[in-house]
This record gives sequence, C-alpha cells and structure tokens, in this order.
Amino acid sequence: MAERGVCNSLLEVEVIELKAVRVHEFGPPNVMRLEEVPDLASRPMQVVVRVKAAGVNPADTYTRSGSYARKPTLPYTPGIDGAGVVASVGEGAQVEVGSRVYLSGSVTGSYAQQALCQATDVHPLPAKLSFSQGAAINIPYATAYRALFQRANAKAGESLLVHGASGGVGVAAVQLAHAAGMNVIGTAGTERGRELVLKEGARHVLDHNTPNYMNEIQALTQGRGIDVILEMLANVNLGKDLKILAPAGRVVVIGSRGMVQIDPRDTMTRDAAILGMLLFNVTEPEKKAIHSTLARGFEDGSLRPIIGKEIPLSEAPRAHEEVMKAGAYGKIVLIP
Ligand SMILES: NC(=O)c1ccc[n+]([C@@H]2O[C@H](COP(=O)([O-])OP(=O)(O)OC[C@H]3O[C@@H](n4cnc5c(N)ncnc54)[C@H](OP(=O)(O)O)[C@@H]3O)[C@@H](O)[C@H]2O)c1
Repeated sequence: MAERGVCNSLLEVEVIELKAVRVHEFGPPNVMRLEEVPDLASRPMQVVVRVKAAGVNPADTYTRSGSYARKPTLPYTPGIDGAGVVASVGEGAQVEVGSRVYLSGSVTGSYAQQALCQATDVHPLPAKLSFSQGAAINIPYATAYRALFQRANAKAGESLLVHGASGGVGVAAVQLAHAAGMNVIGTAGTERGRELVLKEGARHVLDHNTPNYMNEIQALTQGRGIDVILEMLANVNLGKDLKILAPAGRVVVIGSRGMVQIDPRDTMTRDAAILGMLLFNVTEPEKKAIHSTLARGFEDGSLRPIIGKEIPLSEAPRAHEEVMKAGAYGKIVLIP
C-alpha cells in the first residue's frame, strides 16, 4: 500500500494499493500469488510504468518452475514483456510521463500493476496498437526478427517453413517474412490455428499433428526444399527438418524441450547450417536496430500482434497452464 500525500483539508491521504504477482519458491503455477507491494520510485535513467497488460511467454514458465538456466533471486515478480503508461521518470531518461509504451524487459517484473524499467527498455507504443498488443511485441517479434534476419540472413524470394506458426513467435515470423517477400509455409496443430497462419500471410499451412505431413514440402517447393526453417520444437523436428532443406538451407533453433537424434550427413550434402539463438544474447545496438525496424512494420500495418486470450493478473497460474497447452492462437496476455 502506498501513500500519495495529503490531498484535502481533512488530512485524508490518497492511498494507492499496488498489486504484483510474487514467487517465493520455484515450483508449479500456483507458486505465483498476487500480493500487495510497495509503490515504486524512478532512479536515474529509469522509468516507472503503470502496466496495462503483461505478455505471457513460455520462458516465464521455465523460470517459475526453476528449470531455466537463468534463475532470479527469490522472491521475484515474473514477466519480461508488457505495455502501459509512463508514471514517473528518473533523471536523464528521455521518456515523457503519460506516454504509451511497450517494454523489452524490466527491473522488477511485468506481472504487476507497476514496473520499474531501464529507460532503454521502454519503447513508444504505436497509437494503432492496444496495450494488449503492446505486451505481445517484445519477445515474439524480436525473436522472430533476430531468427530471420540476424541469424538466417533470410532474403526476399526464399522459401520459409515456420515450424510452429500459430503461437506468439510463429505469428510474428509469418507476418515479418510475408512483408519481406518470402514464400511462407506454416504449421499449426488446430484448424483455428491453421486459419490464423494463412490469414497472417502464409501461402500454405500444414498440420504438424498429421503423420507424414513433411512429405508435402517437396511438392510445395517444386522439389527444391526449404531455404529457411524457424523451429519452435527442435527436439521433435530437427532430424526431419534437415532432410527437407534446400541447398545452403538454414534451420534456426528457437525452441527445444529435450534431446533429438539427427544425421549430420544431411547438413553435409546440402552445405546446410543449424543456427541456435537466444534472444537474451542480443547486444544493445542489435536490440535498438530490431525495435526501430519493428516500429516501421507496426506503423505500416504489416505487423499486427494477435491476442488469443486476455486473462486477469490474479489468474496468472491459469495463464501459465494455458501457454504450455497445445492449440496456440497468437498471444496470451495478463490484465492487471
Ligand atoms: N530462443 C529464444 O530466444 C526464444 C524466444 C522466444 C521463444 N522461444 C521458445 O520458442 C518456442 C515457441 O515460443 P512461442 O512464444 O511462440 O510459444 P507459443 O505461443 O506457446 O507457441 C508454441 C508453438 O509451437 C507449436 N507446436 C506444437 N507442437 C509442435 C510440433 N510438433 N512441431 C512444431 N510446432 C509445434 C504450437 O502449435 P499448436 O499449438 O498449434 O500445436 C505453437 O505454434 C517455445 O519453446 C519458447 O520457449 C525461444
């Protein structure tokens, strides 16, 4: 509970109750609890953002369970992505109080009504995007952009398989690649997801739950194979991906949840490359380049975050269960 000073002659004090999700021990989704937290103050080069929506990413669940290599100090507030309104600005931060922004990280976590952020992690939210859409930008779009253009060096006219195109990163990749003039094939596990993938710019869509669906790739690419594959579930697909690559093809491993067997000879015969990526490895100049390029796509309408579900912040445990279920449809966001 925060006191905001004396506000009338009866010495009443404006009391602002601030809530945040807190995790005191790693474990299942229900270790996340909504708690009252102190008001935040901006320090030099930092800003406090009144959060209107927080993006839910699979990585948030790995961190919460304690299975992720990067572990926060307990207790902590989960969430990397978010969008809201700037409430206060520390010395030297070039951000205006009251401006609409989206976040590419925060100091205190985005599953909260307020987040303290480095000024460099606060980006203007285009007027045509809602706060929920703003909360769906950072990890999905920055990951898709980095995979396509900073790792695979993807070019107009090349073929792309977005292997897992119905979720946050997948939809962003389909939109980015379509806008860049690539020939996009996407996969999704549900009819609704497949419709979304086609609507967002894929020429063809396949069902990754159907046996032998990869056999269709040769016909769809006139026997040439795929130039670039963005892989959301490498532990299931990497071995098969390598067999459908075109000469000099590239697979970018974005997601993987276990081990996989591959035949290295499949890379030799094609001069192919397997490229790993982790968004946290971007340098500050790369990050700046990514967000300023994305801004143009949001302005011209080629990029439009798709929100599948808005869930109240108090139901964060349910959001973590949902994000790990099959049947993705764009992004899940939490509303404080
Ligand atoms: N390397 C990085 O820096 C980085 C950054 C962001 C995300 N990631 C990882 O990338 C993955 C995707 O993230 P996201 O935010 O897009 O998650 P998401 O919104 O939960 O989407 C998951 C996607 O995987 C698809 N999928 C399910 N089974 C599949 C299969 N057998 N083959 C191919 N795709 C399959 C889902 O399709 P259906 O639900 O339609 O079946 C859905 O499209 C996650 O593992 C995440 O941890 C990594």
